[in-house]
Amino acid sequence: MLVILKRDAGEVSHQAAQLIAGAVRRKPSLVLGLATGSTMIGIYQQLVRLHREGSLDFSQVVTFNLDEYLGLAPAHPQSFHHFMHEHLFAHVNINPRNIHIPDGTIHENYDQYCASYEQSIRAAGGIDIQLLGIGRNGHIGFNEPTSSIASRTRLKVLSKETLDDNSKSFAPGEERPRCAITMGIGSILDARKVLLIATGASKAAAVAKSIEGPITSAVSASALQLHPDVTFLVDDEAASQLTQRDYYLRVLEMTALLTPDRLS
Ligand code: GLP
Repeated sequence: MLVILKRDAGEVSHQAAQLIAGAVRRKPSLVLGLATGSTMIGIYQQLVRLHREGSLDFSQVVTFNLDEYLGLAPAHPQSFHHFMHEHLFAHVNINPRNIHIPDGTIHENYDQYCASYEQSIRAAGGIDIQLLGIGRNGHIGFNEPTSSIASRTRLKVLSKETLDDNSKSFAPGEERPRCAITMGIGSILDARKVLLIATGASKAAAVAKSIEGPITSAVSASALQLHPDVTFLVDDEAASQLTQRDYYLRVLEMTALLTPDRLS
């Protein structure tokens, strides 16, 4: 596990975009697992900037998004389809055929649909880098507390905390989705590399439990401790409850000296 500490959200976004861009340059047909949420917006802005500057080509990149609200059509302004197009896909040269986002409009045969999503990930060769945010309750994707660490893509009922957090994006009186389709924790752990991003004080407790607490289904992101190549990229506020900060800084120094490619 690598813990990269940065001063603020701007530095975090910059570093995350550098890591992703470096991976795309090394492997133009990279299979990228993508996430939504406000934390991702700055990262996508940086990727769009690099593309506009001519140094980042998405033409062969394949993407799989983690999750989508059940019941929201792609054009719905709060859907994750809409989020991805608004913040990334509309501004880069990705081939629309290479974009995969769970379909929130299905209303039957959920298990079959979710199995087919997993099958498309396998058919693409598996995810090379999975980008993750984190919920205040430690969720990754929409794997709410008590999700099985072995879980696969499935329908998930959203927790009250998540409904409250996400309700701010819906208009007053607007019907809010109560369920989502999400890749499972087991699906996420299959990615060859995982990059979790957290910024802001509201994430500090979840970050500390995920990195330094016991592995428990009560904190889904703690399962990432089982992954052989996971990087947590956090700003000062999100890192404020970590007890081993000095050690992470020393590891970073040595990583820059011995295996600098892990940071670019
Ligand atoms: C949603 C998404 C998660 C994301 C989380 C945090 O619940 N399903 O993938 O990590 O939001 O969002 P934010 O970055 O807005 O705090």
